Amino acid sequence: MSILVLGGAGYIGSHTVYELIDKGADVVIADNLETGHIEAVHPKARFYKGDIRSRGFVDNIFENEEIHAVIHFAANSLVGESMVDPLKYYDNNVCGTKVLLESMIAHDVKKIVFSSTAATYGEPENIPIMEDDRTCPTNTYGETKLAMEKMMKWTDAAHGLKYVALRYFNACGAHESGSIGEAHSPETHLIPLILQVPLNQREYISIFGDDYDTKDGTCIRDYIHVTDLAQAHILALKYLLDGGDSNIFNLGNGIGFTVKEVIETAKKVTGLEINAKIAPRRAGDPARLIASSDKAREVLGWNPQHADLEEIIASAWKWHSTHPHGFRKQEA
Ligand code: UFG
Repeated sequence: MSILVLGGAGYIGSHTVYELIDKGADVVIADNLETGHIEAVHPKARFYKGDIRSRGFVDNIFENEEIHAVIHFAANSLVGESMVDPLKYYDNNVCGTKVLLESMIAHDVKKIVFSSTAATYGEPENIPIMEDDRTCPTNTYGETKLAMEKMMKWTDAAHGLKYVALRYFNACGAHESGSIGEAHSPETHLIPLILQVPLNQREYISIFGDDYDTKDGTCIRDYIHVTDLAQAHILALKYLLDGGDSNIFNLGNGIGFTVKEVIETAKKVTGLEINAKIAPRRAGDPARLIASSDKAREVLGWNPQHADLEEIIASAWKWHSTHPHGFRKQEA
């Protein structure tokens, strides 16, 4: 019996595959390598290159392999891009998931762990954010992830497909081995961008706004180590395989750090100067996003092991300083 990981060559997908294989699971990966990397595919996983929007491609995997459950990371995930090209997000994220669910039902595979996002909430009404708080996305990316969750809910009602949606806050850090890590192109996330400064790949980090209503005026986020996210997927899978009902969980540490605090911590970890400049606010950025993950702790037994920001940044630094061009040997 195997686990199918869609998007298993991507950042969070590859880290989850490493943890699954560590625990003895048999893993099949499907990825179109649009944003994933062949180098991130675990050598012990069986790999299918292709796109989940192709029903024939997905059917072929279910027919070739004995798939017990699916973990679904295969989606586009850039907030800014989703505002410029919303239909790309509807096509890949929503239409791709529709094809996947049709194929799962046709092959009687009825358990799926799904990579969702805190962007489903939009501007929060309460801090920390609870799973039953209002969902009102402020960008297409979050809207499509919410649509994917809803598609699973109604597929459960009609066909008994059981799903767990994991709403991540700010994923960061890298595998302890230093062999896989974050490698986006273009990179838009705070921690890898900060670390480009001591790597001499950028002159300074721009701080997007210092006039928010927070302790130092910069935005507060809940940074969560990618290995802790990976462990949550394994616990969610176990929960479903043990007969758990469809459910939604937030994944964060419940602790917020400002942009300035993240920069200060990166200076401490690297021991190097990191120049920063105040820039205008970035459109769509809420001032404060902090998760309540009590539900994941109580129901799944999730217990993040790498919550310390210094440890998170140190793991990212280990990856970026040894792979300054990500999975490429040199700048393309
Ligand atoms: N930031 C800067 N300068 C930069 C980049 C980011 O100041 O050069 C700030 C942002 O304004 C924000 C914080 O750093 O306040 C974190 O920004 P990221 O782009 O790293 O992450 P986001 O909080 O915007 O988004 C993340 C995920 C999304 C997800 C969202 C949910 O990347 O996929 O969390 O809250 F939707």
